[in-house]
Amino acid sequence: MRAFTYFNPTRLHFGQQQLKQLPVEAAKYGKRVLLVYGGGSIKKSGLYDQIAEALADADCVITELSGVEPNPRISTVRHGAALCRSESIDWVLAAGGGSTLDCAKAIAAAAKYDGDFWDIVSKKAKVSAALPLGTVLTLAATGSEMNANSVISNEETLEKHGWSSPYVYPAFSILDPVFTVSAPKDHTVYGMVDMMAHVFEQYFHHDSRTPVQDGFCESIMRTVVMTAPMLVSDLTNVQHRETILYCGTMALNNTLSMGIVGDWANHDMEHALSAVYDIPHGGGLAILFPNWMTYVLEDNIQRFRQFAVQVFSIREDGRTDREIAELGISALRKFWTSLGAPSRLADYGIDDSRIEEMASKVTGDGTRGNFRKLTKEDVLAIYRMSL
Ligand code: NZQ
Ligand code: ZN
Repeated sequence: MRAFTYFNPTRLHFGQQQLKQLPVEAAKYGKRVLLVYGGGSIKKSGLYDQIAEALADADCVITELSGVEPNPRISTVRHGAALCRSESIDWVLAAGGGSTLDCAKAIAAAAKYDGDFWDIVSKKAKVSAALPLGTVLTLAATGSEMNANSVISNEETLEKHGWSSPYVYPAFSILDPVFTVSAPKDHTVYGMVDMMAHVFEQYFHHDSRTPVQDGFCESIMRTVVMTAPMLVSDLTNVQHRETILYCGTMALNNTLSMGIVGDWANHDMEHALSAVYDIPHGGGLAILFPNWMTYVLEDNIQRFRQFAVQVFSIREDGRTDREIAELGISALRKFWTSLGAPSRLADYGIDDSRIEEMASKVTGDGTRGNFRKLTKEDVLAIYRMSL
C-alpha cells in the first residue's frame, strides 16, 4: 500500500425522494442556472418537470442546453460555455447520464476559460476556475456524479479524451434510484459493465498489502454479479436499481484507489474506439477487457486467481492457479454475454481497417497502463483478439 491523499468535496444526496434537496442546494449557488440535459429521456420520465418545479421553488431563472450527445462533443461544450457568458449564468445543473454530467463539467470550466476548451481536454492547459455544478443522475454507470473526471469527444479530429480537475467535482449530486428505472436494458447493461470495468482498473495492480481495498473491490464486483441478472429481468425493480446505483458511484469516486495506482489502459483503448466509431463506452469495454485479461494474465496469476475465487466462486478442485485464473476470465465473459453485452468488435460491424490508427492514438510516443505497460504492438494485439 502506498502513501496517499484523499479529497472528495461532493455532497451526495442518495435515495428516494432526495430531489427535495434541490431547492436547498439551489439557494446556495445563485438564481441564474444553466440546465443541461440529453436527448429527452428526462422529459419522457417526468424528471424535467420535477426539476423545473424544484428550481422555481428556489426562484431560479432557467436557461436550457438540451441534446447533449452520448459521447459528448466539444462543439456542445463550446455552445454551453457561450450560453453561460451571454446569460450571466451563476451555476450549472446537469440532469442525465454520464455524458450529460461530463459535458456540464466541461461547460462549467469552459465558462471560466478564455481559450478554446479543447486545450484543456488535450492537456495543453489546465483549469483554474469553474462555475459551481450540481447533478441529478439518471443512469448508474460512470461515477461522474462523485468524481472530478469528464470525457469529451472531438468530432472533427475523431479523438476522445478524459480530463480532470478538482474544480469540477460536483458541489452536490442527487441520486434517486427511481430516476434510473426508465433506463433501457442496453444502457443499463453498459452501465453495469462500465462500473465493473472501473473496479478492474483499480483492482489489477501489483501493490501488496491492500486487503481492505481488495475487499471493497470484491464486494462491489460480487454485488454487481449477483444483482445484474435480477435487474435485467426486472428493469423496474427499484431495490435492484438502488443497489446498482450505489455500486456505480462507489466504483469511481476514488475510494478504491486509495493506496494503489490504477491501470486504465482499457479505458484508453475504449476511448480510442468510441472516438472513431461512436459506440457506447460500456459496450466497448465488454469487448476489450476479457481480452486484456487473457493477454496480461501471465504478469500476476495470483491476482487473477484471487479474482476468480472471490468474485466468481471458482473452486480449487485440484486445479492449478493458472487454471483457476483462466476460469475466472471465462466466467466474466459468460456473465457479460448472459446480460446481452457484446463480445466482439464484429458485433458493432467493426473490422481491422482502423486498428493501427487507434493503437497509435492510444500509446502516442509511449506506453499505456500500469499492470503491464502496453506498447503499440500490445494494443494492436488486444484489438486483434477483440475482432
Ligand atoms: O440523452 P438521454 O435522452 O438522456 O438518453 C440517454 C442516452 O441515450 C439514456 N438514458 C440515460 N438515463 C436514462 C436514459 N434513458 C432513459 N431513462 C433514463 N433514466 O442512455 C443513453 C446513454 O447515456 P450516457 O450518458 O451516454 O451513458 P453513460 O452514463 O454510460 O455515459 C457515457 C459517457 O461517460 C464517459 C464515457 O466515455 C461516455 O462518454 N465516461 C465518463 C467517466 C467519468 N466522468 O468519470 C468515466 C467513464 O469511464 C467513462 O469514460
Ligand atoms: Zn468507464
